Amino acid sequence: MNIKEFESEAEKVVGWMASYFENIEDFPVKARVKPGEIKAGIPAFPPPQSEAFDDIMQDFREKILPGMTHWHNPNFFAYFPGNKSKPSVLAEMITAAMGAQCMSWITSPAATELEERMMEWLRDMIGLPGDFTGVIQDTASTATLCAILTAREKATNFSINKHGFYGQKKFIVYSSKEVHSSIDKAVRIAGLGSENLRKITVDKDFAMIPEALEDTIRLDIDKGYQPLCIISAFGTTGSTAIDPVAAISEISKKYNIWHHVDAAYAGTALICPEYRELAAGADKADSFVFNPHKWMFTNFDCTAYFVRDPEALVNTFSETPEYLRTGEDNEVNNYRDWGIQLGRRFRALKLWFVIRNFGVEGLRQKLRGHMQMAIWLKEQIERSDDFVLMAPVPLNLVCFRYQPDRSLSQGESNALNEKLMHILNDSGKLFMSHTKLNGFFTLRMVIGNTDVNEQHVHQAWDLIRKTARSLNISVITD
Ligand SMILES: Cc1ncc(COP(=O)(O)O)c(C=O)c1O
Repeated sequence: MNIKEFESEAEKVVGWMASYFENIEDFPVKARVKPGEIKAGIPAFPPPQSEAFDDIMQDFREKILPGMTHWHNPNFFAYFPGNKSKPSVLAEMITAAMGAQCMSWITSPAATELEERMMEWLRDMIGLPGDFTGVIQDTASTATLCAILTAREKATNFSINKHGFYGQKKFIVYSSKEVHSSIDKAVRIAGLGSENLRKITVDKDFAMIPEALEDTIRLDIDKGYQPLCIISAFGTTGSTAIDPVAAISEISKKYNIWHHVDAAYAGTALICPEYRELAAGADKADSFVFNPHKWMFTNFDCTAYFVRDPEALVNTFSETPEYLRTGEDNEVNNYRDWGIQLGRRFRALKLWFVIRNFGVEGLRQKLRGHMQMAIWLKEQIERSDDFVLMAPVPLNLVCFRYQPDRSLSQGESNALNEKLMHILNDSGKLFMSHTKLNGFFTLRMVIGNTDVNEQHVHQAWDLIRKTARSLNISVITD
């Protein structure tokens, strides 16, 4: 492809993108394909000769697009959003065009220094104190793994990196029962053993009970184990429950345990000052993670990881072979030393574009709109006779289930709600996901899509009610 061809194809691709944005609601939200169907449409062998770009684009439209779930359709209410926005997409296009690999300062000084500045902006935007330093990671899973590994190294004077676990005590990590699976994974990868992750009991709002945490820590100390890290959730995945971060911070200080705050989704809410009280105590944590790629309109991937002691992070991960040594190493941040991977994408550019194009007030306005729509939905559920709210709604996730008849057993209720969710998702008109709360199959509706508005939420609620009421309950109870 020569430069003229590139220009002409790029114009067509941008035209396709604009029309995709414009017409995204015409696509079924959840892909309607069966396992293996898409792969079967792709030849088993690569083409020996160059193919025309028009043909490639046509195949993309015909063979790939039907197998895509449209995360940016405003009727996507599932999981947590993986948001995009137009300024973010434009930044990603430029990033791809430059194709820089930003592992060290020298490999693109602007990428490193813009990342430094963006992390300062983000830290201030969410109200973390100035003694936190940030770095962009690919995902919250990686950031949490970094936190656990750094806690492990700091607690052992960086000796496990050197000598392995030989002669060490049993290390224990604490989280609530509701915590995200990335914590289980991180504990395993860090070599601590999944049986050494204590899942602390939660209260009726699904938040960790700090007294139970402290009791468990004491028991572990009595047994001669070493409490290593507490992970509090600011917004659990199941229901956006908010652990008592301040009380957990105090316990972590009392017993000298690393405190990591997993605010992967809900951290973005802190851009609105009125939500900061909910995260009181996060300023005393050792590390804090949130994902602009979830709710801050920034394309995946982009995780903001903040630490109080960057030296400990760098000491845990730094590795400088001769071929990466530069004359500026003592003056600059080489972000390859701030995490697991060597090669790094230039992710700060999209943050810069998003924050500047929305403005902090613009971001707040969007987030507040989402919270208001969630409150509206919550009120509809509270008023209805046959739906029940399953958890508090501190932010913009509403957890509920259909309960037409109180005499249904838990098993029957679960089967009914699962069926309802599948019918709704198969309709292509919306996509929602589920969790289990207190053993009940619970529908989760997250109102956090970049372009979601009241009409989408009203239509979704109408559809949910109509579909639920048309279900034949006897199919479940027979
Ligand atoms: C609370 C919480 N923590 C961590 C994660 C993992 O995020 P990532 O996909 O960035 O690893 C999620 C994902 O939804 C989450 O909800």
